[in-house]
Amino acid sequence: MASSFSCGKFAAANLCKLLLISGLAIYLILTISLPNQLIYQKFPVSELFSFFRMHTQSPQSTSPTNLGHLAFGILGSEGGWHFRRNYVESWWRPNTTRGFVYLDAAPTGDLLPWSARSPAFRVSDNLTKLLEEVKAAEPMAVRIVHGIKELVRDVGEDGDGSVRWVVIGDDDSIFFVDNLVDVVAQYDHTKHYYIGAPSEFYMSNVWFSFNQGFGGAGIVLSYPLAKALANDMDNCLRRHAPYFITADIIIKACVGDIGVELSPENGLHQIDLRGDISGFLSSHTKSPLMSLHHLDNVESLFPKMERVEALRQLMKAAAADESRTLQQTVCHERQKQWTISVSWGYSAHVYERVMPRSHVRNPIESFSEWIHSTRPPPFYMFNTRMPTADPCEAPHLFFLDSITINHSSHGILTTYARAAPRLLDPCLWCAAHCPDFLTHIRVFSPATKRIGKDRCECCDVIAVNGTTADVKFRECGTSEIIA
Ligand SMILES: *[C@@H]1O[C@H](CO)[C@@H](O)[C@H](O)[C@H]1NC(C)=O
Ligand SMILES: *[C@@H]1O[C@H](CO)[C@@H](O)[C@H](O)[C@H]1NC(C)=O
Ligand SMILES: *[C@@H]1O[C@H](CO)[C@@H](O)[C@H](O)[C@H]1NC(C)=O
Ligand SMILES: *[C@@H]1O[C@H](CO)[C@@H](O)[C@H](O)[C@H]1NC(C)=O
Repeated sequence: MASSFSCGKFAAANLCKLLLISGLAIYLILTISLPNQLIYQKFPVSELFSFFRMHTQSPQSTSPTNLGHLAFGILGSEGGWHFRRNYVESWWRPNTTRGFVYLDAAPTGDLLPWSARSPAFRVSDNLTKLLEEVKAAEPMAVRIVHGIKELVRDVGEDGDGSVRWVVIGDDDSIFFVDNLVDVVAQYDHTKHYYIGAPSEFYMSNVWFSFNQGFGGAGIVLSYPLAKALANDMDNCLRRHAPYFITADIIIKACVGDIGVELSPENGLHQIDLRGDISGFLSSHTKSPLMSLHHLDNVESLFPKMERVEALRQLMKAAAADESRTLQQTVCHERQKQWTISVSWGYSAHVYERVMPRSHVRNPIESFSEWIHSTRPPPFYMFNTRMPTADPCEAPHLFFLDSITINHSSHGILTTYARAAPRLLDPCLWCAAHCPDFLTHIRVFSPATKRIGKDRCECCDVIAVNGTTADVKFRECGTSEIIA
């Protein structure tokens, strides 16, 4: 029965291919031999496509992936949602983003009536029997893993086959959804993909697992993989839940049993860091920013701002241009011997000497370890620069102050204001032009999205007037060196 069904499917697939190829051939012949207008009159392309839809009966199409193709499953708790909802509401787009927040219990108190700015909620399935049966080491981990099955069921009920990607996150995961769409669109959603990121903190990877997507950073599963996981869910929990105490490892194990391994993506951030992460965010990788996490556990993203307000400030930049948000662009003021490094929509650093980009792209270690270990450094999965009082190494720090979109010039002006006086002697080279007098950096960037580029952008310091330096973004020259 099962085999004849799959044989039938196989035959249908071949038939579809045949139809597709012959249809394409007819289309090409018509295109080549007739003027365009005539073709559209006699044989509208739209009909050609509906013809294929009729005969292929496939829910997949080759249309570009958009936000409506992503289904989010946020694993939260009733207790945490009272304050964590601020984080999710900062990125959730009501009536546009799809998915649910899964709570351990029905909402109460100030959560009712349920906020229209939050994702709709579901109460997680009652897993009491399953937990006993599988002898789960950590019930919470099982609830999270089982959430994948619940999400596939809950978004799949409409049966329109429009979900291409399933995104699992925590209630303190912040997603940058347009960048997420652009990155996953580079993968084939009809194949099995498990996209995620390791922790920045080396020991997290040791304590939990290497080659695992950390859940707070977001785990992205192509729909066929999510479906396979959902189908195998109870058995996967029987195999792994007695031995592992985190959902992330169980997911990695279950995905591994399907024969799939992690596709790491650098723009997803678990943020297993503490303290001031501005150094990390000011030298972000060229990969589009897709997530942030653990904002409760680090200092506010902007100095002198409360956490949620600071997040909203970053989100204002993301709303203006998500593709450039946190992208690092470096240029020099040669006469004054300055290096200006801009983390778009977040910060600007001014150094009192000319430095190559390859140096300033390493984050300044303003932050500390997630959990202090007795292990010697390095603590992180990337190179860092140590904070220093050396005036030739320490930057003047500026943070995003305002954003103006200029529709007539198709440009965006972001202004960064000095955080505090640097209080260091001048660097040897800067003499009469030390940037201590600067209060603002103004950055002019195009209002066009910039994605999928092989290189970072370049910039020029176009003016330094009074207390303001003006920087203009542009594409780099073919063999331009940023040093
Ligand atoms: C979402 O859609 C519903 C129904 O169309 C509408 O009543 C509601 O106001 C919308 N919510 C938002 C936040 O736009
Ligand atoms: C969950 O199911 C168990 C039995 O399987 C039942 O005893 C328990 O009351 C249920 N819990 C809730 C919250 O419904
Ligand atoms: C917008 O750009 C135009 C053209 O460059 C310029 O003339 C105008 O002053 C700008 N407007 C603002 C508000 O900056
Ligand atoms: C800075 O100076 C340049 C050239 O002198 C001038 O064109 C520009 O308008 C000035 N900008 C500001 C902000 O004063």
